[in-house]
Amino acid sequence: MTTTWHDVAAPEDVAEDMPITVKLGDRDVGLYRLNGEFYALEDVCPHAYALLSQGFIEGDEIECPLHGAKFHIPTGRCTKEPADRDLRRYDVKLESGRLFVGVA
Ligand code: FES
Repeated sequence: MTTTWHDVAAPEDVAEDMPITVKLGDRDVGLYRLNGEFYALEDVCPHAYALLSQGFIEGDEIECPLHGAKFHIPTGRCTKEPADRDLRRYDVKLESGRLFVGVA
């Protein structure tokens, strides 16, 4: 399957503990910087409607601002209910001073 890379942000747009939302077509994607690494995750919580990038970072997890579900940022794995599935994870690359998110 071919990956399409989307230029989404400059690295300095994403601070540690301050994720941002970027739009890829009609999808919201949360862009995170954690210990100097960049990660991109589906941004709408699978439980109800909340943008996870507006939640709270605790260690390497993001906590949903609405009902407290938690997800592991590097993998998208759901670690706490009430959400009941993992988040889609996207590849991120840094190239020519820009961040690109890959959609397969
Ligand atoms: S909307 Fe995220 S836990 Fe309910």
